[in-house]
Amino acid sequence: MSKHRMIDYRLRRNTRGLRQKGFCLIALALTLALLGCRSMSSHNDKSEPQIPVATDLSLIPVPYSLHRSAGYFTLGKNAALGIHSNDAAAENIAHYFSELVQRTRGVHLDLLAPTSKDNNTQSGIDFVLDPRLSLKDDDSDEGYALTVATGRITLVARSAHGLFNGAVTLWQLFTLDADANLPLRIPCLRIEDHPRFAWRGLMLDPARHMQSPEFVKQFIDWMALHKFNVLHWHLTDDQGWRIEIKKYPKLTEVGAWRRPAGAAGTDANGQPVRYGGYYTQEQIRDIVAYAQQRYVTIVPEIEMPGHAQAAISAYPELGVTGKNPGVSHDWGVHTVLYNVDDSTFVFLQNVLAEVMDLFPSKYIHIGGDEAAKDQWQASARVQARMRELDIKDETALQSWFTRRMQTFLSAHGRKLIGWDEILDGGLPPQATVMSWRGSKGAIEAAKQGHDVVLSPDPDLYFDHLSGDLPDEPAGRPKVISLRDVYEFNPIPKDLDATQARHVLGAQANLWSEYFPTDASVARATYPRAAALAEVLWSPVTAHDWNGFLDRLVVQQARYRELGIGYAQSAFAVHIETTFDAPHGKVGVKLANQTDFGTIRYTLDGNAPTPQSPRYTGPFETAASGEIRATAFAHDAPLADARARKLDPLALLHRSSGELRQCHPNSGVILRLPDDTPVGPDQAIFHVDLFDPCWLWPDASLDDIDHIAVNVGSIPFNFQLWKDIKSVVTRKPLKYPAGELQVHLDRCDGDLLAAVALAPALANAGTTQLEVPIGHHAGTHSLCLRFATGKYDPLWAIDWVQLVPAH
Ligand code: ACM
Repeated sequence: MSKHRMIDYRLRRNTRGLRQKGFCLIALALTLALLGCRSMSSHNDKSEPQIPVATDLSLIPVPYSLHRSAGYFTLGKNAALGIHSNDAAAENIAHYFSELVQRTRGVHLDLLAPTSKDNNTQSGIDFVLDPRLSLKDDDSDEGYALTVATGRITLVARSAHGLFNGAVTLWQLFTLDADANLPLRIPCLRIEDHPRFAWRGLMLDPARHMQSPEFVKQFIDWMALHKFNVLHWHLTDDQGWRIEIKKYPKLTEVGAWRRPAGAAGTDANGQPVRYGGYYTQEQIRDIVAYAQQRYVTIVPEIEMPGHAQAAISAYPELGVTGKNPGVSHDWGVHTVLYNVDDSTFVFLQNVLAEVMDLFPSKYIHIGGDEAAKDQWQASARVQARMRELDIKDETALQSWFTRRMQTFLSAHGRKLIGWDEILDGGLPPQATVMSWRGSKGAIEAAKQGHDVVLSPDPDLYFDHLSGDLPDEPAGRPKVISLRDVYEFNPIPKDLDATQARHVLGAQANLWSEYFPTDASVARATYPRAAALAEVLWSPVTAHDWNGFLDRLVVQQARYRELGIGYAQSAFAVHIETTFDAPHGKVGVKLANQTDFGTIRYTLDGNAPTPQSPRYTGPFETAASGEIRATAFAHDAPLADARARKLDPLALLHRSSGELRQCHPNSGVILRLPDDTPVGPDQAIFHVDLFDPCWLWPDASLDDIDHIAVNVGSIPFNFQLWKDIKSVVTRKPLKYPAGELQVHLDRCDGDLLAAVALAPALANAGTTQLEVPIGHHAGTHSLCLRFATGKYDPLWAIDWVQLVPAH
């Protein structure tokens, strides 16, 4: 807590310094275009990364055009904001803006009504709605022009949405330094701005883990401050139905609740745990209204014909088998589908009628993904219906299903959007496709003339980890870095210019299997969403990775002000060590993901400061004490310091993520949390679902007496459909109830040891096993894997410690 506050303070001081350096250059440069400004970047202290002139405004996303001129606007004590139109929306935006400025800067602005006689005389800032405003290249209704002159700031837009976007830009200019003391100075400039894409989205998944209504509102606030305009809300899935539907109360009485897998499903009194929740219609109306005030459209998703297990648990007659499958506590691809009786369409249409009543969005998302057809194939009733309808196969049946929904939505003036599987078997031209299986679906859809939204896995699947630091939380280990997101191209190369016009935009998806808390969703979203915001809003010619990183320094300070718990993966220092045991030395390599900033470190246990030694390359030091390292930009820390103990015992320790996976290029590797209650002590297992097996390559075993292995087990709550065949189960050699095996050099090499796993240990946190391995001179690889004869529960390594004899 105190460390965080200290960093915050330093960053604030520093950003003010940055601004002043920029001002000197502005005075020389008079009027500069944004890119022109960037070329004047080499004047500052040579020992630190340079902040180009334009980037000191730290606007994210960077505007379409920005011209600067001499002088500043100064906001004094009696500043006022005038609204120059009799428009309730403009007035709301002015209120929103002044509250935001008050909250984040402690600056009060008097609001002057359109009719106020003071409106043209006293106000320092004017918000104007003017339908005649013409902006170059802008065919959206989201553009704006912002003029900062010495005496006045004028924001003009044709539409309320444009005015809102301009207000967000102006707020960013107000937060260049976080010093609340007036006067507040903003350099004179003119910005003309509009979006590159119409669909700039994020997707929330409350089905796997539900986010609180308060968090959803916060999430919308943060989206608006990045000029995102679509929140895709994945409200139903196998693991929970999260939207109250008045006509079908069991959807939430039954379908909103599941019993967690394994031991977590039973409480201390031996009673079943009920986990879940839902949003009432009242809460949804409130959230939708809140989003409207922030110009974010909420696109609701009701999944069909698959991912329907929660609904079918509530009303088994909607399913194919008539059996109640229970709300799922598993992740993955389930095979429970809706049946295709007319009564099921009546149900779905009634549900959508209530959904349309709650959500004014033009688009309604009907899912459509991963509808494994096993149940339809096995059902005599479904097969008879197919023959009756002259439908040749189950893919064509899903296409027929989608067409029925399309006809219904269209009759109600709405547009259908669905995951790219809805293309299979044919799709009505009015339907829009959300491409998730890479960009393939987008290419095919756009070539067929459908509008498309890109949200490919893995590029924009933010359940993938932001980095590979040892302290990364649970998630999918293929790293989708900040830079990966910044370099994402929403227009697939295979599309020609006409086809490319079908690309509405893109969105990142926050699938929540591994995000049990609101905080974990926020961390996975930012700052990667800032990169996506720039990709989707700013013209390609203004994209500039290094400039973005510069601007992110201030953006991170804004995040701290707003309480956004962002990931530090892009800037935190990764400390790599190699232990030379015979000489008591350790080799140290330091780096951060973005290679941004100056890394400084200490070896005396103190926090690194801008005066600490600068890291210039790998070095050797004595194997004792602790190293702490931080990357700085202009004397401000970019992330909290990371530390690593350098004593021999610590150097002979590896967490599961620091071990190598035996099959790094196959299988399904995940970082999974222990199933003890969520908290800082929860273990994170880096494990291959298909074959849990870890390697410690090149372990120096000369002086090693035994190894200690911390292990845990979690329920195998994964539905792998046909892939279940690929899961390896190994027979134990010594202990029938299951064992940890350690092999020398290779996994099919000599068995060094097998240690019993006590079944009683399952689902009870982690346990430390002592493994005698005998004496082995020299360097060897160790292969560690479990053999229990079954895959559930899933046993996994938390960490391995080589324990020296002395
Ligand atoms: C998806 O990830 N199944 C859309």
